[in-house]
Amino acid sequence: MKNFLSPRNSSKLEGYNYAALEDHIDEHGEPRDRLKQPGIPAALWKYLMVVQFANLLIFCPIIWLIYMRGAILPSHETLLRYGQRTTFENKQESVFPSTENDHWWRSITYTEDGGVVRLSKDWIAAHSIPESASPPDDPNSGIYQISVFHQLHCLGIIRQRLNDPNNSYFAPSGVGFNHSMHCVDMIRQSLTCNADLALATTEDFYDFDGGWHRCRDFGAIQRWAKKNRFAGHGELIKDRLGNLTIEDGN
Ligand SMILES: *[C@@H]1O[C@H](CO)[C@@H](O)[C@H](O)[C@H]1NC(C)=O
Ligand SMILES: *[C@@H]1O[C@H](CO)[C@@H](O)[C@H](O)[C@H]1NC(C)=O
Ligand SMILES: *[C@@H]1O[C@H](CO)[C@@H](O)[C@H](O)[C@H]1NC(C)=O
Repeated sequence: MKNFLSPRNSSKLEGYNYAALEDHIDEHGEPRDRLKQPGIPAALWKYLMVVQFANLLIFCPIIWLIYMRGAILPSHETLLRYGQRTTFENKQESVFPSTENDHWWRSITYTEDGGVVRLSKDWIAAHSIPESASPPDDPNSGIYQISVFHQLHCLGIIRQRLNDPNNSYFAPSGVGFNHSMHCVDMIRQSLTCNADLALATTEDFYDFDGGWHRCRDFGAIQRWAKKNRFAGHGELIKDRLGNLTIEDGN
């Protein structure tokens, strides 16, 4: 380390031929005894600089990593992992009818394109994922929806039905009735598929709301969905979606 930082020896790096010994000989060929030098010895300065340099090397990447954590795009493998144990928060009021809550639900339910993503066929094959329809102008990719966004959309539909029970859209003869039933069925399967094994705690033998859950990083999933978004989805389903505007307001 000493030699790398010494300008005297910087030209002698090639070969690393025991240059450390030369460092103790001055320009007249006399041995140098640094311990006898007065004031703050140059060796101490050098030592402090080395320590500071080492600190920079160690701490800068750590601080950078902490800072960038939210910006780095995770790989699909990373998304699959479960993170630290965490508790659930009580956000019951967020379900109540209000414009503010509608916006909040929309923000967690949809990325720009409802979690619909475009993935290259090479990537799909490498990850053993079944093929899906290609966009008309891009036969080398497939279009998918990340299921959690479909399931959140379904929960949003159920929330709407609960908050607006008299809406004819959700009446047994309405277009939305079967849709909302499909949504309950889809969430049932999602819950049993992803069976949350957290052992919920209680204080009064009545509410079991405590305990630790292990969760995936939903923020990272949203970023991955955004990065791979398929912007042409709305255009492709325009004809079929037609007048079902109640979903747009979700
Ligand atoms: C729904 O309709 C019932 C019966 O007509 C009525 O009593 C109730 O107030 C209505 N609810 C809402 C939220 O409009
Ligand atoms: C809902 O589903 C039932 C059973 O499949 C069907 O008979 C009914 O016509 C559907 N309703 C609408 C509005 O599509
Ligand atoms: C949408 O509504 C208009 C007017 O009610 C109707 O003419 C049109 O056929 C509807 N489109 C679809 C896809 O249902």
